[in-house]
Amino acid sequence: MKLTADEKAMLDGSEGRAVQKAMDLLVRYGEALGAERLVDTKNVCGAVTAPSPRKLDIVKKRGLEYGMNENFSEMNLDSDEVVEVPPAKVYTCQLIQQFGPDTAPLHDGNREMLDLQKQADSFFGARGVHIMATCTPYQVGNVPVKGEHCAWMESSAVIYCNSVLGARTNAEGLESTGAASLTGKIPYWGYHVPEFRRGTHLVEVEVPVDDMMDWGLLGYYVGEIVQDQIPVLTGKLSQPEMMKLKHFGAAASSSGGVEMYHIPGVTPEAPSVEAAFGSRKPVATIKYGKAERRTAYENLNSTAKDRKVDFIMLGCPHDSIEQVWQAARQLEGKRLHAGTELWIHTPRAIRELADRSGYTKIVEDAGGHILSDSCPAISRMMPRGTKVVATDSAKQAHYLPAIMGVQMWFGSLKDCIDAAFTGQWAGGLD
Ligand code: F3S
Repeated sequence: MKLTADEKAMLDGSEGRAVQKAMDLLVRYGEALGAERLVDTKNVCGAVTAPSPRKLDIVKKRGLEYGMNENFSEMNLDSDEVVEVPPAKVYTCQLIQQFGPDTAPLHDGNREMLDLQKQADSFFGARGVHIMATCTPYQVGNVPVKGEHCAWMESSAVIYCNSVLGARTNAEGLESTGAASLTGKIPYWGYHVPEFRRGTHLVEVEVPVDDMMDWGLLGYYVGEIVQDQIPVLTGKLSQPEMMKLKHFGAAASSSGGVEMYHIPGVTPEAPSVEAAFGSRKPVATIKYGKAERRTAYENLNSTAKDRKVDFIMLGCPHDSIEQVWQAARQLEGKRLHAGTELWIHTPRAIRELADRSGYTKIVEDAGGHILSDSCPAISRMMPRGTKVVATDSAKQAHYLPAIMGVQMWFGSLKDCIDAAFTGQWAGGLD
């Protein structure tokens, strides 16, 4: 790999041991990928504040400073040697983490670990990591511009960054984002390279796709077919708002690992179908009609059998304020069925907005809760005794049965809220 003078200097240790380790990691990583060089990045989204449970003992024995340094060295720099964490060199945000200690009464999470994470927030906050604590950094202020090179983790954020914003990132990991935050560098490879970003598959949508559920179903079907390739979607698509593209991308990246898509006339690198493909010819044309829509629905509901629902999970990816408002409107003045829990997940900054707008009170008066920082799939925390879950998120429906061994119903927001009132799943496909 060709290195610039500043990269060589970092590799030689001119900026200290942690930066040296970070540059060494990036060179090894870039060479394994076949990248010929690194590229500057000023926008990193990673995960540093959720210490592994083993670190609780280390922190108790050797103190927070040592425990955090050891955690970062091992988890974010792939280093056996414990190095001191310096300040981030470039704009760095914490993605999703565990729930905060304020949620402790709601689940069986380890209170000591939740408290430790709060201390980790302060440790890394003091080193310039912005604790957004969400899988949707683009909803709370991190909105890179078209062409900007980023180093982001989290599949639903990566596909949004590439496709909707036209910024450039691969799906990075704990280590590469840790190293990027200390160096401002990432391998120039994959989605950083313009030619790599052209479409591979043409998707012809033959049924109207308008509401949230339909965008989720379409994403889930397309992801399963194209896997990690780049679909270009045409046909009966209504003009999507941000939250629909958020759901579509999260679904496609769950069922297939899609990291980029184009919708001609909507996404910034596809003014036309021709521009979306560039000099490439589609390797296949995929039809999405009634039968395909039903297949996606049945796949998403394949684990569900019992109609009695214990837990309604909304907010995957984390809800926008508009989504919280939509849920609050349906809950207003009513009470949840006894024994049915409702959690709505949203970034903490949007939670503040929901508090001020009165939506949190409406949700809580109905018996539900608004939670921030995490979600059941990441935290592995749910209301006690949950066996059957309902959600409006294709991504959560994809992962939660495998992670938590629960049955899962997928449907519209209305299906979910109705189930919260009756304790029974009555949703279905029209
Ligand atoms: Fe976010 Fe958790 Fe869904 S990280 S995208 S709410 S699985």
